Amino acid sequence: MASADVPPTIAWAGDRIRLIDQRRLPAELVVVEATTVEELCEYIATLAVRGAPAIGVAGAMGVALAVVRGEDPAAAGERLRATRPTAVNLGWGVDRALGAADPVAEAQRLAVDDVERNRAIGRHGAPLFASGANVLTHCNTGALATVGWGTALGVLRAAHEAGTRLHVWIDETRPVLQGARLTAWECERLGIPATLVADVMAAALMRAGRVDAAIVGADRITANGDVANKIGTYAVAVACHHHGIPFYVAAPRSTFDHTLPTGDAIEIERRSPDEVTTIAGVRIAPEGIAAENWAFDVTPAELVTAWITEDGVFRTPPGPDVAPAP
Ligand code: MRU
Repeated sequence: MASADVPPTIAWAGDRIRLIDQRRLPAELVVVEATTVEELCEYIATLAVRGAPAIGVAGAMGVALAVVRGEDPAAAGERLRATRPTAVNLGWGVDRALGAADPVAEAQRLAVDDVERNRAIGRHGAPLFASGANVLTHCNTGALATVGWGTALGVLRAAHEAGTRLHVWIDETRPVLQGARLTAWECERLGIPATLVADVMAAALMRAGRVDAAIVGADRITANGDVANKIGTYAVAVACHHHGIPFYVAAPRSTFDHTLPTGDAIEIERRSPDEVTTIAGVRIAPEGIAAENWAFDVTPAELVTAWITEDGVFRTPPGPDVAPAP
């Protein structure tokens, strides 16, 4: 994606926040504005802006917005935090802005920092992939899930730009189709060879020898290395384990939550059943059928081959202050 023709996923604009409305992609690339904290909360809750690092920066910018509007930043922080419970980055961004002497400057600093960290994740992760590799990914972890560049897809982008010949299998990622709508759009723009598949095809592809590695992002990684990520990630990890395929997780250190011992303690967001009974607003299930919609699942640490961060590649889960082995 040439940065020249795609605006940042989210940006501070003096007294408002500009963000790409991801609900409308890939049909149209539209930038919308949040001028109030309530508007921003609505954008986060309805996935106009989404992806753990992006909503982390949104949280910080929301606090900044409250400050410039003369509202109580702490109350704004609570409203923002309540929009989505699973991604630790959201509360982290809110807290960073609340704890800063100048929340507006801090929010902008976090936005710049996000892109730098993602590029570092890409630099560390890219050498893990050999030329000719077929790599499966789930959900969207590209520039759209961050302020820019991306985490897991950012690793594949870094490898691609370094000349590694990769082919990406994109899981469509039901129910909201972040893979089909967003990752496919980003791969197209970046010129990364990619093929879209239904989520349920992943294990069969592995059995057929068509997947060399999988890489995903994370919404929260607990002290023991358990990973909360988009629903369906666990199934990919289990299938990788069964077939002896490396399963990588790429995330900034802000996604690690060392206050929770294991993934069992992670609150999993429950979203509207309507996302399951419909596709793109069209009802596909009979009226009256019950539906469950867990937005995330937890992959146990033992299924993770390595955690790729801006500080390097960890083969065991990093503690709060741990640097990777050289
Ligand atoms: O519900 P979403 O679209 O916000 O879920 C996003 C994911 O699960 C991503 O994999 C995760 O946030 C990492 S994004 C770099």
